[in-house]
Amino acid sequence: MASIYSRIIATGSALPERVVTNADLEKIVDTSDEWIRSRTGIGQRHIAADGETTGDLAFLAAQRALEAAGVKASELDLIVLGTTTPDIIFPSTACLVQHRLGANGCAAFDVNAACSGFVYALGVADKFIKSGQTKKALVIGAETLTRMVDWTERETCVLFGDGAGAVVLEASSEPGIHATCLHADGGFKELLYNPVGVSVGFKDEPNHGVRIRMSGREVFKVAVKTLDALVDETLKAAGMDESQLDWLIPHQANLRIIEATAKRLHMSMDQVIVTVDKHANTSSGSVPLALDYAVRSGKVQRGQNLLLEAFGGGFTWASALLRY
Ligand code: COA
Repeated sequence: MASIYSRIIATGSALPERVVTNADLEKIVDTSDEWIRSRTGIGQRHIAADGETTGDLAFLAAQRALEAAGVKASELDLIVLGTTTPDIIFPSTACLVQHRLGANGCAAFDVNAACSGFVYALGVADKFIKSGQTKKALVIGAETLTRMVDWTERETCVLFGDGAGAVVLEASSEPGIHATCLHADGGFKELLYNPVGVSVGFKDEPNHGVRIRMSGREVFKVAVKTLDALVDETLKAAGMDESQLDWLIPHQANLRIIEATAKRLHMSMDQVIVTVDKHANTSSGSVPLALDYAVRSGKVQRGQNLLLEAFGGGFTWASALLRY
C-alpha cells in the first residue's frame, strides 16, 4: 500500500493590533531597550486588547489559512489547537473555533504542551492523517500569554507577547512531513510553570496567583542542550543530513537560543526565520507565526525542506522536518 503523508497546503496568522515596545516597558519596570535586545533579541510585542481572546486570534489565523488553502471549513475532519491560555476551561478553544468557522461535526481538541504546543499539535495531526482516518486537518497554535504576565516583574514581563498561527494539512502521496519528534520531562516543572489552577486552587493574590514562574538562566541552558540533541534526532528520523535543510523555523523565545541551534546545524542566520524581534515569545503561537511570515514574505518556497522546533514548560520539546 502506498504511504500517506501530510502536507501543509497553506498558512495563516493573526496578531493583536496593540504594539508595546521596549521603550514602553521602560516606563513601567526597571529595564532598558539595550538590556532586552542584547539578552533576548526582542524589540516589541503585540498584546491582546481587553476582551480579545486566544480563540479570537486562533479564529482569524484559521480563516486566513483556510482562505489561502481554498478549503471550506466544512471539509475539515480534524482541528487540533495548541494553547496554554484557553478562552475558558471548557469547551476547548478548538471547539469554540470550530463552531465559529462552521466546521461543526469534525474532531476538535486542544493540546497543552506550553511553548511546544503547535509542534505537538502538528505531530498529532500528522499521525491522524498517516492513519488514513483524516484527509484534511487544521492545526493552530494560539496564545494570549500576556494574561499570565506580572507587569511588575521585569525578569519575565519583557519576554512574552500574544498571537496565533495556523496551517491546513492535507493527505498526500508525496511528503509532506518527513518526521516529527515529541518529548517531555515533567521533572523540570519547577523551572517554568504557573502554579495555580482549577484543581489545585487559586491564591489570594493579584490575578488569583496566575503568574509565570521561571528560572531564566536554567531554562536557557537546558533549552540549548535539549534542542541540540533534538535537531540531530529529527534529521536521523527523516533520513536526512543538515546540508539538505533550506530553513530553520525555530520557537521564538530568545535570539541567542536560536543562534545556538543554527550554529549546531552549521546553518547561516540567513537560513533562519527570526520574528522574535517583532513578536517576542508567543508560546504556541510562535512557530506558526514565523512560518506564515516566511511563506507570505516569499522566503520559503514550495519544495524546500523546513525544520521546525520548539521548547517549553513541562519541559516539552518537539520538532517537525517537512518538505513545504
Ligand atoms: N531588565 C534589566 N535587568 C534585568 C531584567 C530586565 N528586564 N531582567 C533581569 N535583569 C537583571 C537581573 O536582575 C540580573 O541582575 P543581577 O546581576 O544584578 O542579579 C541580571 O539582569 C542578569 O540576569 P540573568 O537572569 O542572569 O540574565 P540572563 O543573561 O540569563 O538573561 C533571560 C535572562 C531570561 C533573558 C535568559 O535567561 C533567557 O532568555 N532564558 C530563557 C527564557 C526562556 O526562553 N523562557 C521561555 C522558554 S519557552
